[in-house]
Amino acid sequence: MTDYGDNIWADLGEIGDGVRGSRLRRTPGRPLAAAVWELDPSSSGVPYHFHHGTEEPLLVLKGRPVLRMPDGERTLEEAEVVHFPPGSTGAHALSNPTDESVRYVMVGAHASPDIVEYPDEGTVCGRDACAGVTVVGVLPSHRRRGLLTRMMTAQLRDVRERGVSIATLWASEETIYGRYGYGLSSLGLLPTAKRQTSQLRSDLPSREGAIRMLDHDDALRLLPPLYEKIARRTVGFLARPRDWWELRTLDDREERRRGAGSLNVIVHDAFGVDARATREIWRFLLEIDWVDEVETRELPLDHPLILLTARVNELRGRLRDGLWLRLADVGAALAARSYASEGRAAIEVTSDPLFPENADTWTIEGGLARRSRRRPAVRVDLQALASAFLGGFLFRQIAAAERAEGTVRGGLARADALFATPALPWCPEIF
Ligand SMILES: CC(C)(COP(=O)(O)OP(=O)(O)OC[C@H]1O[C@@H](n2cnc3c(N)ncnc32)[C@H](O)[C@@H]1OP(=O)(O)O)[C@@H](O)C(=O)NCCC(=O)NCCS
Repeated sequence: MTDYGDNIWADLGEIGDGVRGSRLRRTPGRPLAAAVWELDPSSSGVPYHFHHGTEEPLLVLKGRPVLRMPDGERTLEEAEVVHFPPGSTGAHALSNPTDESVRYVMVGAHASPDIVEYPDEGTVCGRDACAGVTVVGVLPSHRRRGLLTRMMTAQLRDVRERGVSIATLWASEETIYGRYGYGLSSLGLLPTAKRQTSQLRSDLPSREGAIRMLDHDDALRLLPPLYEKIARRTVGFLARPRDWWELRTLDDREERRRGAGSLNVIVHDAFGVDARATREIWRFLLEIDWVDEVETRELPLDHPLILLTARVNELRGRLRDGLWLRLADVGAALAARSYASEGRAAIEVTSDPLFPENADTWTIEGGLARRSRRRPAVRVDLQALASAFLGGFLFRQIAAAERAEGTVRGGLARADALFATPALPWCPEIF
């Protein structure tokens, strides 16, 4: 499908601290990227980052932004053009300490998949590298004739052809998708806390900050930059474009209460940008007067709430499957991931009926992944590799469940050291 003749310019709204943007809509097969950014006066602007794949020339249209690069800072003048190559030498941040607004345009070829690294925050995020599969269904009159298999096959082929290495989904029936190479890659905890008995620990600092309600316009202005900040450092968060924020407004529709009355609270999203904010959000949620129960959607198993509460048993959590992941292109997916150490491990992927080229031995070394003839440290099937990929499960755990095999002494530990992540993957949104 083409979009020739359509308006392909998209307003992104405010996406950071005093930063607004608009850009060319991203369409598979169109590598051209173009965006116009506006920095408000006295804005800290765009954080220090670099792209692993994309190179970005920048032209200042208006104002005098301050550019930070690895060799220091300088003020750019109107009509000046600077160029950021891929990799750490092209790291840059733009701020606007002046009283005038700043506008600049960036045009280039968008690499997909691309990885963005934020050296100040120590975070890395791969964007555009993931297909989200949703609303899978076959008419009751046509089931069990192989239609799902045909759809899954066509869709995964399409994903791979478009240069996307990973597909994800939420499964309403977890026994369906393993046959297509999807593996369970994250878990969710669903606590239902009784307000009377679920309080935070008494040794915690007393209340800090203030809680306030936001109207729609304030929410649109304030929440996306905060979400963006948290998403950048959390594996599994989905990008939320402007349309998401416009459409997914908070309301109290009967059908979304899932039978809960007005004395129950259902928490859809509760994120703090740091430990103190997280603590105060949960203190608020657990102390709302007259509320009987606080039911929460997927939290990761390492969420701070577990240790913040005085009595973990009172959370009465239920465990469920989270994201399912399919590595459509194992080599590209392994190459797009960052690794916790410079160490080396070879991983053998035993088979992939759909993409036989995925079944090979992949050596990860110095942060890179390539095919090799090395003796593997670990042997896995596709599903097991998907379980380890986001850091949701250790190879050691997967081997104990007989889905992976350590083929040399210490092999599982070596692979675990490489794939280690600072936190468990967390996808807070079912799609
Ligand atoms: C689930 C659904 C999409 C399957 O479609 P389908 O065209 O009947 O599936 P296929 O005939 O291609 O079957 C493919 C395989 O999945 C298996 N399968 C189908 N439905 C299944 C189910 N609900 N649970 C477990 N396995 C299932 C089939 O037995 C078959 O197995 P095989 O490859 O070992 O022979 C269809 O039943 C449906 O629309 N269900 C209601 C909506 C739904 O549950 N969607 C899933 C959302 S996550």
